Amino acid sequence: MKTFPELVQTLRETRNLPDPELKALLEHQGPDEVLFQAADKTRREIYGDEVYIRGLIEFTNYCRNNCYYCGIRRDNKNAERYRLSQEEILDCCEEGYALGFRTFVLQGGEDPYYTDARICAIVTEIRRRFPDCAITLSIGEKSRESYQAFFDAGANRYLLRHETASEPHYRSLHPDGMQLSNRKRCLYDLKEIGYQVGSGFMVGSPGQTTECIIQDLRFLQDLQPDMIGIGPYITHPDTPFAACPSGSVDLTLRLVAVLRLMFPYALLPATTALGTLHPLGRELGLKAGANVVMPNLSPVSVRKLYELYENKICTGEEAAQCRGCLERRVDSAGYQIVTAIGNVKRESAGERG
Ligand code: 5AD
Ligand code: FES
Repeated sequence: MKTFPELVQTLRETRNLPDPELKALLEHQGPDEVLFQAADKTRREIYGDEVYIRGLIEFTNYCRNNCYYCGIRRDNKNAERYRLSQEEILDCCEEGYALGFRTFVLQGGEDPYYTDARICAIVTEIRRRFPDCAITLSIGEKSRESYQAFFDAGANRYLLRHETASEPHYRSLHPDGMQLSNRKRCLYDLKEIGYQVGSGFMVGSPGQTTECIIQDLRFLQDLQPDMIGIGPYITHPDTPFAACPSGSVDLTLRLVAVLRLMFPYALLPATTALGTLHPLGRELGLKAGANVVMPNLSPVSVRKLYELYENKICTGEEAAQCRGCLERRVDSAGYQIVTAIGNVKRESAGERG
């Protein structure tokens, strides 16, 4: 069996490892510096020290789904529900644009109030007012026709984490109505339509094994998404998983680095969940290979209500200063925030191998 540095080097050079070697890498005991340095090297070769910012607008916390891990699941009667109006959403964009954001991410639960017509109207208006910005949707599983309609209205990107690529594990995280096969269908439809697609999974969700994670990586190799979002699972008291412990920061960081080496060109966020479990979680994520941060642009009055998990950061009085706060944090990690649309960089034909 290869040593840890040998595994890292092979992964960096070939962007792949056989299952047993991936398992050894993921379960390795001891410091990860060699891995983080390799990931940072790959990241700097492609993206330099640039960090892209995405303005996240959490516009509804109503959801028709009942995922066992999620704080805004339908059956959580303690969740105080809200929706932002089209005008409120546009105000968030206006404010975000002035702060230097060139990507707006509209994220919400699967809320039937937002019919295709309403989503299309919002997207059309953002497109009209901010022609130089990317519009990212993160509103769950829809029909191919709906995805096409949003795309035609001007949306460019779509985030839909697959959550887990293991069929039994997927079943244990979701009630019967939801199907891994449909989620995958959505992701391939989105890609075919022409969206830049983001997928991903939670690290340390209840019942997750190293084998599940390897299946996640294999699924991502097949999908070849432009963006991959991962963060630790964090428990929420009003869910069936309330008693399940949160995921590990260390394993999340290790996976960020593994993803950077397997997908050198991917856009990888240092997630809010990572920043929630560790005061310097996002900085550590950047140093492990992440190159995106997604601060919240939602009105301060609703931020606490979009509570997927407990103790979420950036929901208090400090929230309005996220841009400045993040700039200092990114700077302290050795990178810099840029005002740019931040599209995925694709490799040219000669660059591979
Ligand atoms: N902890 C961490 N992440 C969560 N998500 C949902 N619930 C939780 C939780 N309890 C993640 C899911 C979803 C994304 C928007 O947030 O991966 O796709
Ligand atoms: Fe939001 Fe620091 S990033 S307050």
